[in-house]
Amino acid sequence: MARLGVNIDHVATLRQSRGGIEPEPIAAAIIAEMAGADGIVVHLREDRRHIQDRDLRILREVVQTKLDLEMAATDEMVKIALEVKPDMVTIVPERREELTTEGGLDISSIRGKLKDIIELLHEGGIIVSLFVDPDIDQIKASHKINADYIEIHTGKYANAKRIKDEDREMDAITQAAKFAYKLGLGVNAGHGLNYRNVKRLTQINEIVEFNIGHSIISRSVLVGLDRAVREMKELIS
Ligand code: PXP
Repeated sequence: MARLGVNIDHVATLRQSRGGIEPEPIAAAIIAEMAGADGIVVHLREDRRHIQDRDLRILREVVQTKLDLEMAATDEMVKIALEVKPDMVTIVPERREELTTEGGLDISSIRGKLKDIIELLHEGGIIVSLFVDPDIDQIKASHKINADYIEIHTGKYANAKRIKDEDREMDAITQAAKFAYKLGLGVNAGHGLNYRNVKRLTQINEIVEFNIGHSIISRSVLVGLDRAVREMKELIS
């Protein structure tokens, strides 16, 4: 049975839109956990467009399941991670102008830096996951630089308009997950997943966790966060 990590970034997006104090992402994390979330995920972006440093610090105090910090491979973020000590760090590529994370890491281009960062985070007792496309070379490279997990970028699968394209992406994700599992890597998956498209991915037994944000927070506006999390948990179980 796969676990559900709930990404609460967009609760913070709503708060930041007025620069005030509501809605409170910490409350969202607590409700999500009470509804069955197996982990809370936040992306502390360089531009601080949603989650703030203060959110991360308080979450570290209150999250009782697992706190997964998504972050770019920068010195600033490594310093923060080593101070706050989330249970897991998921390293993602980050571009300032993007709306959301647009693709997986190109490990070969920052291999040395990533290897050093993984070592530092390991010394701090933090599990490290790398966000990669369903690409065998990226998975091999993740293994070589001692990542513990990969998170497979499911964006192309989620955005596929035709069945044929969805089938091709499903196949790529399946092969990637099996390959990573054989290498001994833990396998998570996420990005663009919703109440319709997640079901098919649950057939891939190697995927141990789905990290889902936008669709859960969107549904919560209409039906409440407790119900939105419960319904997603039900789908992936
Ligand atoms: N996983 C990673 C690594 C991400 O960067 C994001 C987006 O922040 C997600 C999962 C969640 O994506 P979505 O909000 O589309 O569910």
